[in-house]
Amino acid sequence: MAPDVYLAEAPSNIAFLKYWGKADAAAQWPANDSLSMTLRHARTQTRLQRSASGHHEIHFEGKRLAAQDPFAQKMLRHLTFLSEALEESQVPLHIDTHNTFPASCGIASSASGMAALTIGAVACWLEASSWEALTNKGISRAQLASWARRGSGSACRSLWGGFVVWEAAAGPASQRAYPLFPSAHWDLCDTLLLVSTAPKSVSSSQGHTTAWESPLFLPRLSGLPTRKRAMLEALADCNLAQLGPLLEQEALEMHSIMLSVVPPIVYLLPQTASWIVQIRRWRQEEGLEVYFTIDAGPNLHLICEPSTQPALLARLAQAGAQWLEDGIGEGPTLGMGRNKKWE
Ligand code: DP6
Repeated sequence: MAPDVYLAEAPSNIAFLKYWGKADAAAQWPANDSLSMTLRHARTQTRLQRSASGHHEIHFEGKRLAAQDPFAQKMLRHLTFLSEALEESQVPLHIDTHNTFPASCGIASSASGMAALTIGAVACWLEASSWEALTNKGISRAQLASWARRGSGSACRSLWGGFVVWEAAAGPASQRAYPLFPSAHWDLCDTLLLVSTAPKSVSSSQGHTTAWESPLFLPRLSGLPTRKRAMLEALADCNLAQLGPLLEQEALEMHSIMLSVVPPIVYLLPQTASWIVQIRRWRQEEGLEVYFTIDAGPNLHLICEPSTQPALLARLAQAGAQWLEDGIGEGPTLGMGRNKKWE
């Protein structure tokens, strides 16, 4: 009989308050708290089953990855970690994973990918095909989040829908991610404005290691609690006029950290700067209530309320821009099915 197939699907997320810099890289302990919005459309779908070949087999977007492929290596390292965390050696897995969004478009595929891998591998190993079955085996969502962060820090925020906080707390043992508000709390759109889809020259993981070298990093850390408080207030009140400027300050501050190390990490492109100016101009001169945030790349996430989106998209179309539409979404799903196809 063919082995059971476990299906884990996890969303990506866009950070409003950024995780940049680690207090302890080995333990994946972040230097500061972060806060994100879970995305609706940008998701990773991973199917897993016990492998008959005696070793892990990883397929990405339909193609088998060689064991030395950097992406496969990252997944294999995480599988080793998870197997050890479960405190017994686990059987090899056959893994098939794919993203619902294009690679290198500025959406954090490591967040959704590592979250889906964590949920799916643990489910498959423990033969638990639902959240309830996982809970019955003593595995909580918070535990999965804590494990997912070891694969990629931002992945721990992909265990819930809506708005999610990752608190650094006093140490690796007490750091934790948790849901702040469900998606129904505030319907926000995220229009991903594509400036370039070329792969980035410095990975986020490499970038994190340089943060402490920036003369701006300590001042950033001391100012963050105030920004976080203001962001929490704006989110609680669904107040975009308060949230928006904080989003922009936060993204530009993170890029200032990147730009002020030697050698600088330059993710931004000239077109990114032009769009920053354009978005601000539309807001100030035409009252278009749209704000940007930017991750470790040149593309802009344009945040607005649904009532503003048609006017934004019309302007983007007129300017010849390319974009992907997304918005606030739900958390991961887990299921089982031998022949089930993803919708
Ligand atoms: C800019 O989670 O990709 O997207 O923990 O080294 O895998 P690792 O880094 P990663 O860093 C994400 C950085 C960011 C900001 C954020 O998502 O908070």
